[in-house]
Amino acid sequence: MKKIISLILAGAMTAALVTGCGSTQSDSNAAASDVASETLSDGVLTVGTNAEFPPFEYVGDNGQPDGFDIALIKAIGEELGVEVVIENMEFDSLVSSIGSKTDVAIAGMTVTEERQQSVDFSEPYYNAVQHVLIPADSTIATYDDLLGKTIGCQLGTTGDFIIEEIEGATDQQYNKAVDAVNDLVNGRLDAVIVDSNPAGVFAANFPDQIKDLNGEDFGFGIEEYAIALPKGDTALKEAIDVAITNMKEDGTFDKLVDEYME
Ligand code: ARG
Repeated sequence: MKKIISLILAGAMTAALVTGCGSTQSDSNAAASDVASETLSDGVLTVGTNAEFPPFEYVGDNGQPDGFDIALIKAIGEELGVEVVIENMEFDSLVSSIGSKTDVAIAGMTVTEERQQSVDFSEPYYNAVQHVLIPADSTIATYDDLLGKTIGCQLGTTGDFIIEEIEGATDQQYNKAVDAVNDLVNGRLDAVIVDSNPAGVFAANFPDQIKDLNGEDFGFGIEEYAIALPKGDTALKEAIDVAITNMKEDGTFDKLVDEYME
């Protein structure tokens, strides 16, 4: 018995020696909690979101924000040993609130060069593409079909920026994407441009009235979602990136995908 234990110990020590200068999972775990970010020093991470973007964030039956992003940031908070406080606000205010009203933002937010002027981003955690929602009887099928059309979107989103570039199109901005979808159903819009997963959720609410077209067929590129962070807070970025990597490795991330995505 004793011999077996010492063999196991010897094995463990060799493993520790061999991996000593590499980064093992427990090393990275240690790194996450050792990093001293000012932002985390009060033990609270205040997180801005816009809970109008299912399945990433929405207001749950209990009136509280819920969804994939909310679960993800809570899991990150747990890993970092801080309490997560969610602030639900307009999407368009999320970036400017970082550093004043909030510490970070999680909102299915696409990494863009323009946003990178004012905030940093975590490692990307999800890919998406803009989708085009149209009335079931619409003939819109290509990018050129969108020229000169009246197209709805959520204000300040990448869908909004795409519409701005469509020649002759009227860009109809809403505070919530769901309001654009309702106007599409009511015949006030020719199309709505919104991210893939929410597009699927919204279209499923009106199976007979709405068609959900993949924006890749319109030439729209792949977008990466990441957590927006205060510019220059490298310690916070490091801590959050390590937490995301750990969750991807230990299966926590996939569990959340299974739980929240269709
Ligand atoms: N991915 C798009 C963007 O970053 C839309 C995000 C909207 N998110 C939300 N929670 N309403 O602009």
